[in-house]
Amino acid sequence: MHPAVFGGTGHTGRHVLDQALAQGHTVTALARDPRGLPAHERLRPVAGDVRDADVVKQVIAGSDAVLSALGQRRWGSTVCTDGMRTILPAMQAHGVARLIAFSGYGVADSRHRNLYVAIARDDYACRAVAITS
Ligand SMILES: NC(=O)c1ccc[n+]([C@@H]2O[C@H](COP(=O)([O-])OP(=O)(O)OC[C@H]3O[C@@H](n4cnc5c(N)ncnc54)[C@H](OP(=O)(O)O)[C@@H]3O)[C@@H](O)[C@H]2O)c1
Repeated sequence: MHPAVFGGTGHTGRHVLDQALAQGHTVTALARDPRGLPAHERLRPVAGDVRDADVVKQVIAGSDAVLSALGQRRWGSTVCTDGMRTILPAMQAHGVARLIAFSGYGVADSRHRNLYVAIARDDYACRAVAITS
């Protein structure tokens, strides 16, 4: 497969990237500073911010799935919501139907308020499923 990866420089995302590459996938990854991404022949780094709709479209073009490990290191960031609002339209524009988003939100007490499911259903009328453990 050819996944587009967001948040690949983070604590969770670096494992997502490592596993995707180890399984033989070709990856395009967006990072604000691509020096934080591993050097690999099957990894195409793209520099940019997930809030930039144009660069997000470039990352998703040619992909067949999106993996998001976007997160926030400071309280009050809206990067996950902002990211979905650029990622989902880009997926629709390029006919990409698979999104896997890693999030602690939606687990336990917040299980009925999953951020990604709510945005996908309410803003984009997508079929969305949350898998929590
Ligand atoms: N860490 C855990 O133990 C854990 C456990 C359960 C669930 N989770 C979930 O996994 C997700 C990620 O958590 P994490 O701990 O891995 O977070 P993290 O280490 O802070 O990583 C966040 C990632 O998002 C990227 N990012 C933030 N703002 C961005 C922007 N404007 N444009 C592009 N990229 C941006 C960061 O890039 P930069 O390098 O540029 O900042 C980084 O790659 C969260 O939703 C969290 O709820 C984490």
